[in-house]
Amino acid sequence: MKKTMMIAATAAFVMLGGLSTAEAKPFCAACHEGHADKIGPSFTSIVAAYGSVDAVFAFLNSDADLEPKVAAFASKASTMKSQVKKYRKLDDAKKAEVRAWVEEQIK
Ligand code: HEC
Repeated sequence: MKKTMMIAATAAFVMLGGLSTAEAKPFCAACHEGHADKIGPSFTSIVAAYGSVDAVFAFLNSDADLEPKVAAFASKASTMKSQVKKYRKLDDAKKAEVRAWVEEQIK
């Protein structure tokens, strides 16, 4: 039991450590930043529109259609729709990396 937890903790540490290198940036970075709008809205405004990071990832990890919640960007929803499809094809480890990266960006 203790050993399993140690292994899990080490895996989490390695994963987070890996994120500090530039090449670990997920493809979302092409269009999103933490605090500034880019091609897509800032993650802080997305999180504000959804209410929490959990709610954002509950949507991303569901199979619900995208109903744009950030009013100023609603006309660009088709751009994000294809990205949602791309995200949903990632394996769980990659999805966890995306979430850790998003949380890092909004600090
Ligand atoms: C090619 C550019 C592009 C990429 C790459 C991209 N996005 Fe987006 N994203 C947008 C645009 C434009 C919007 C605004 C339209 C909208 O809200 O649907 C958006 C909106 C969003 C929203 C809010 C959706 C809503 O309900 O309004 C979330 C959440 C999001 N992006 C997360 C991500 C994540 C996570 C990634 C990487 C896995 C990613 N995006 C990659 C362009 C992009």
